[in-house]
Amino acid sequence: MREVKTSAPGKLYFFGEHAVLAGKKSIAFAIDQRIYCEIKERSDEKIVFHFPEVGVEYREYNGRLSDKETSFATAAINCIKKLTRLRGMTISTRSEMHPGFGTSSASTVAILGALSEFYGLGLSKGDIFNMGCQVVLDVQGEGSGYDIACSTYGGVIEYVRGGLPKQLKHPNNLPMIIGYTKIKADTTKIINHVLSLKQRYPEQISTIFGIIEQIVLLVEDALEKGDFRMLGELMNMNHGLLAALDLSSPELEELIWVSKKAGAIGAKLSGAGRGDCMIALAPGKEKEVSYAINSMGGLAFFGKVGDGLRTE
Ligand code: PMV
Repeated sequence: MREVKTSAPGKLYFFGEHAVLAGKKSIAFAIDQRIYCEIKERSDEKIVFHFPEVGVEYREYNGRLSDKETSFATAAINCIKKLTRLRGMTISTRSEMHPGFGTSSASTVAILGALSEFYGLGLSKGDIFNMGCQVVLDVQGEGSGYDIACSTYGGVIEYVRGGLPKQLKHPNNLPMIIGYTKIKADTTKIINHVLSLKQRYPEQISTIFGIIEQIVLLVEDALEKGDFRMLGELMNMNHGLLAALDLSSPELEELIWVSKKAGAIGAKLSGAGRGDCMIALAPGKEKEVSYAINSMGGLAFFGKVGDGLRTE
């Protein structure tokens, strides 16, 4: 019986979230927490999902995207169905990833990679990236695709919507601490808030996005040189601009300020905002900053950069 295994990492925004939806350059990275996917051939024609972490022990594929827990996997199979005749299989996933780090994108990419191997399609990372973006649009209706780019390619990624993701050079051990607020961000609602601001203040918002892109343009060089002071300062600037759009929250601000007090050079919210995560850059002070984040009620992680999609 045929059996394949893959894995893909989660992601976090580094710079340029929200502005990316207006076509600006952004930078994000894959983290070293992964989702694993295993596909096993079945003796019958059934296509079965086994996703115990989201409470799905046994559910048959029906092509519809209305079941929340299986919508991304269903959309992935709907894409693959256009390329080959489906056979009976059980698709299982297992996560070592903390919520808030992009479980949907990592599982989409791991599943697409496993389907490509199972059916011998030989899809390239570029194919998987394009299909993954389609899956996100089919399920969510909106999204830049940066998360799919990170989960597919891994590393630190410069990303413009509609363009090819570019892997950036970066120091081996970025002294990055991630702080999870324990509050789930409602990405769609927050994107709509920014859209509404954009409609009412088009020039002001486009100026803010323009400055965010100017910040992003400096990051590539700072990363390549390992200039942590500059990176930290750019993080502070980017955070200030996101806060100007009312995307911060008391919990994010608490974790950001406690990190700075514990020695971080820079800190910012990461992703949609108003919840989920913040990141801090703290060379030589990683332990102090994680301790401070945990003491403030957040959950700290060392932000190690992860590899992209791979066969296990
Ligand atoms: O909710 P997150 O962490 O995936 O971040 C969303 C970031 C946005 O720029 C608002 C949307 C996007 O898809 O890039």
